[in-house]
Amino acid sequence: MFTETWHAGCYVEGVTSRAHPTRRGLLAGAAFSTFIAREVAAQSGGGDASGDLAFPKGFRWGTATSAYQVEGAVTADGRGPSIWDTFCREPGRIRDGSSGDTSADHYHRYKEDVALMKSLGAQTYRFSIAWPRVFPEGRGKLNAQGLAFYDRLVDELLANGIEPFATLYHWDLPQALQDKGGWERRDTALDFADYAGAVAAKLGDRVKNFFTLNEMQSFIEHGYGIGIFAPGLKLPADRLAQARHHAVLAHGLSVQAIRAKGRAGTRVGPAENLTVALPAFEIPAHIQAAELATRELNAAYLTVMMEGRYTDAYLAGLGADAPKFDARDLAIIASPVDFVGLNVYAPGPYVLSSEASPGYQVLKLPKSYPHMASTWLTLAPEVLYWAPRHVARLWKPSDIYISENGTSSKDKPDKDGHVYDLDRMMYLRNCLSQLHRATTEGVPVRGYFLWSLLDNFEWADGYATRFGLVHVNYATQKRTPKLSAAFYKEVIARNAPA
Ligand code: FCB
Repeated sequence: MFTETWHAGCYVEGVTSRAHPTRRGLLAGAAFSTFIAREVAAQSGGGDASGDLAFPKGFRWGTATSAYQVEGAVTADGRGPSIWDTFCREPGRIRDGSSGDTSADHYHRYKEDVALMKSLGAQTYRFSIAWPRVFPEGRGKLNAQGLAFYDRLVDELLANGIEPFATLYHWDLPQALQDKGGWERRDTALDFADYAGAVAAKLGDRVKNFFTLNEMQSFIEHGYGIGIFAPGLKLPADRLAQARHHAVLAHGLSVQAIRAKGRAGTRVGPAENLTVALPAFEIPAHIQAAELATRELNAAYLTVMMEGRYTDAYLAGLGADAPKFDARDLAIIASPVDFVGLNVYAPGPYVLSSEASPGYQVLKLPKSYPHMASTWLTLAPEVLYWAPRHVARLWKPSDIYISENGTSSKDKPDKDGHVYDLDRMMYLRNCLSQLHRATTEGVPVRGYFLWSLLDNFEWADGYATRFGLVHVNYATQKRTPKLSAAFYKEVIARNAPA
């Protein structure tokens, strides 16, 4: 397969069709059950890494979760209600009528969960801090008891040699702020910055990396646009555009607050799920069209954050509904970041180059296009190549993290109690090979966070959709590493897909 040369001669031939090293002997009956028995323990190789698929030295492997999805304990230690607590109680909002009330009970079982991370050999952990634990009303008096949970978690991680990466907002807006207007209200961005600064002041002695807001595109478009996420609103175009603006403003203000209140050397960046246009096939014209489309399709989010301006096409498309802002806002939104986090699952559109404006033609997916267990998770592992590559080409950040990647699977323990999630492993193996392709071309990807460590509350899908490396029996809270946990342990040990 052809790909254009990029980063002076670093093109690696045929990487997309290269066979993956299969783990030798894994499928041999008895040895196999021993392999995944109890914990994902002892037998991992590490010495068998396929040299040509090895990631750069120092590449960092971890897992990711978020507060509302795993913690439970929603009324413990003075936590205030969030918009997800409210949303889950509205009939028909969550597919199985569930909520994050208990979930995986990580709030009480975090030590066991950190031990699971350690057994994987994970070097990093991305978790989120629940704003309503720290400020139950969103602002005002800090709830020291709530923040103390993250103190304990961070200490436990560090004691186990795992570096904490904290996300400040993973969608659990304090309900008290939603009652004042939520992201439609400009002051929510200021409140967020105050909260971010307070957390950085307290945890900044041990947490060196902060993600600001997780997936602005998701929580704004789904929560305020089509209403399938909390707070369940369907705003008209002008109010929606203003809410988007407040989210990116919150990002910029929080970058500044963390720099002001955290220790010197604290690193900060977003974790955005950009829409990634893919070239229908790899010739320079389509590749260029895909890059152009990616810039345009993210105009309200990553593009304005990286460039400090909304694209002309975005503003023209909105006309009178365009957001109200001034030059100062744009400068804040584009506050320099230390890294760009990319959550990458499914591709955006495939495109062809086009003579006609806007320079690309968006293609519709045929009905037969494959997807993973979640229908939204259409399968295109090459998105792990194109996402960081487009970002590197468009905005030249010094560091990129894949802040989330993973897949749902219809996981069910077998008669022997094990979960053989071969589809998840297929997905991950191919995604990692494509990510590797990016690193060989010099795209500065520094680490990868697999979503997720544990099965958890998957928003509007409830608990039926499982994304974990570790199966959670919600009735007993028993954790059982799936086969993919053994796979990921091997990936980490080899620093290469397994
Ligand atoms: C991402 C979210 C994360 C999880 C995964 C499956 O969009 O950030 O919380 O739901 O999808």
